[in-house]
Amino acid sequence: MRHRTIIEPFRIKSVEPIRLTTEAERVDALREAHYNPFLLDSDKVIIDLLTDSGTSAMSVGQWAGVMVGDEAYAGSRSWKRMERAVHELTGMEHVLPTHQGRAAERIIYGTLGGAGKVFIANTHFDTTRANIEFSGARAIDIPIAEGLDPAFEHPFKGNMDVVALERLLTEHGSAVGAVILTVTNNSGGGQPVSLGNAAAVSALCKRHGVRFLLDCCRIAENSWFVKHREPGMDGLTYREIAQRMFALADGAVMSAKKDALANMGGFLALREHALAERCTNLLIITEGFTTYGGLSGRDMEAIATGLEEVFDEHYLEYRIRSTTFLGDHLHAQGVPLMRPIGGHAVYIDAKALYPRIPVHEYPGQALVCELYTLAGIRCVEIGSVMFGTYDAAGALVPASMELVRLAIPRRVYTQSHIEYVAETFEEVLRRRDAVRGLRILREPRFLRHFSAQFEPVAP
Ligand code: F0G
Repeated sequence: MRHRTIIEPFRIKSVEPIRLTTEAERVDALREAHYNPFLLDSDKVIIDLLTDSGTSAMSVGQWAGVMVGDEAYAGSRSWKRMERAVHELTGMEHVLPTHQGRAAERIIYGTLGGAGKVFIANTHFDTTRANIEFSGARAIDIPIAEGLDPAFEHPFKGNMDVVALERLLTEHGSAVGAVILTVTNNSGGGQPVSLGNAAAVSALCKRHGVRFLLDCCRIAENSWFVKHREPGMDGLTYREIAQRMFALADGAVMSAKKDALANMGGFLALREHALAERCTNLLIITEGFTTYGGLSGRDMEAIATGLEEVFDEHYLEYRIRSTTFLGDHLHAQGVPLMRPIGGHAVYIDAKALYPRIPVHEYPGQALVCELYTLAGIRCVEIGSVMFGTYDAAGALVPASMELVRLAIPRRVYTQSHIEYVAETFEEVLRRRDAVRGLRILREPRFLRHFSAQFEPVAP
């Protein structure tokens, strides 16, 4: 018999209670958090879809690794395991452990960046862009046009526009610090990048003598899409597909908090010796010695095991199909979504959901607040709160899309949790004309979505 139901391919051995709050409690909590869910206590959240980063449930194999972690300062056995796991996956000789992805970003973009430099990506994730801009360099996004139309169906909306890439490489020449493919494209809807696109990007970079880096934190999920959507790939394993993509790149930055199924960690992997040496100097000054970076031995064990487990075909099938399950339910209800459904999250098109809320009143943030109030669901705006800037006259220059991301932690929630989320949208749709936008009261200069304070606009 072939079942329609995709079961979670694991048993639950340890549980963490969820405190069920009332709507009245949540109204108060949201006001106290200045309408920014990053400022909410996690105890007041029922279903936490803020991020899939560092929120995975670890396996028995990973917990067993935690117990045998070698905490030696130098030459740790656990480091050897992690180094081998990264080396075998990426094929890259130099592996630098870091405490999370953005530390690896700071090291590589701090080294390659600086005033006058330009970085080009399918879409820079927010911490990537922030690290590049912090160095004084510029970050340019060139997703394919299809990737910017939420409702448009395309198998690889994470792809880079290679025509624009060629033009930019010619225009900026040696000022290009690196070209980056983020797989899957987190800020562009969790959409995959095809191996064909990565090969085209790689070839252009080689021709122009520019480095090509992968932001590979969701590379296993990306491999699932390549295997099932890209012609000729079906005969390869998920791991082989990932290895082919790494083979095209000169380096990779990974947040191990995603597809390494760990709660903390990251790495920078490089082929070039001289660049690795420069980065290693920064690593030792700011993260730690080369055999642990910012990590404890037990973290490195969890990462090494996670990098193996994540390519398991049953795990990946469950992972992608369960994200799609939520997306399909919302789509059937008529919720406007980024289509097709991505790997780690469902992205709602808040501009289409709330056409009466102008972009400068942040329709995405309004939906984030609505989901928390109605059901204790926490999620994040990926739109003009996260990526908006101001022009010289102080007017908002909006982001290209107003999305809200429901990110699914790995191996954490069951089908009934996800059904609860889907059911909440029935009420979201019923109340869609009553929802108000927000205005920003306070904001920091970088990464403002983490700590900005809002208030609802008057009716
Ligand atoms: N690159 C991408 C594509 C990411 O999604 C993230 C983190 C990072 C780099 C930075 O890694 O958090 O370990 O420092 N994304 C999280 C998210 C925060 O919620 O999507 P980090």
